[in-house]
Amino acid sequence: MRIYKTKDYEAMSRKAASVIAAQVVAKPDCVLGLATGSTPIGAYKKLIEWYEKGDLDFSQVTTVNLDEYKGLPRENDQSYYYFMNENLFNHVNINKERTFLPDGTEADSEKACKAYEEIVRSVGGADLQLLGMGHNGHIGFNEPADYFPKETHCVDLAESTIQANKRFFASEAEVPRQAYTMGIGTIMSAKKILIVISGADKAETVKKAFFGPVTPQVPASILQLHPDVVVVADEAALSRVEL
Ligand code: GLP
Repeated sequence: MRIYKTKDYEAMSRKAASVIAAQVVAKPDCVLGLATGSTPIGAYKKLIEWYEKGDLDFSQVTTVNLDEYKGLPRENDQSYYYFMNENLFNHVNINKERTFLPDGTEADSEKACKAYEEIVRSVGGADLQLLGMGHNGHIGFNEPADYFPKETHCVDLAESTIQANKRFFASEAEVPRQAYTMGIGTIMSAKKILIVISGADKAETVKKAFFGPVTPQVPASILQLHPDVVVVADEAALSRVEL
């Protein structure tokens, strides 16, 4: 595991974007595993900027996203489908037919999850998987649990996640209670993983996840067992650990 400490969110975003850009340049037809949440937005902005300058070409890239809320229509501005279009896909030359997310509009959870696992497998898995991390250490929507779920599955969101995400919705009642997410096994099958973390409010979880025992109670701790992980975090997020 390589840990890059950056001064602030802006520098974290630049560094993360450069890891993603390096992947796209090295393998133009790569599969990028992408993430939502507020943390990766700055990195997406940088990628768009570099695309506009002519330094990046997404025309052959395939993407697979980590997760999606269950039950939100795609046109809902809080769906992750909407988020990805808004924050990245609409601004670069990616072939949208090659961008995949779990189908949150599919009411049959088993069907939706099986279909998505199959999509990820059929594209050969992610060459590079980008992750954020929730305050409770969740990755994708894999919440703290007694075991590490393997494949794409339907989750009941933790109360703390509903609380953290309600800022994006008109009211708490509108936050979906369930989501489809890649499993820990799906995430760990990526060839390379890049996790971005910002802010002092995640410092304690960073310490637990990367310097504590590997446990499903802190889902991100599993990354300690992956052979190629890059952590890009700002000083505030790394303030509880010594490097
Ligand atoms: C969301 C997403 C995660 C994301 C996390 C952190 O619930 N499902 O993929 O990493 O929460 O979000 P943020 O970056 O806004 O703190």
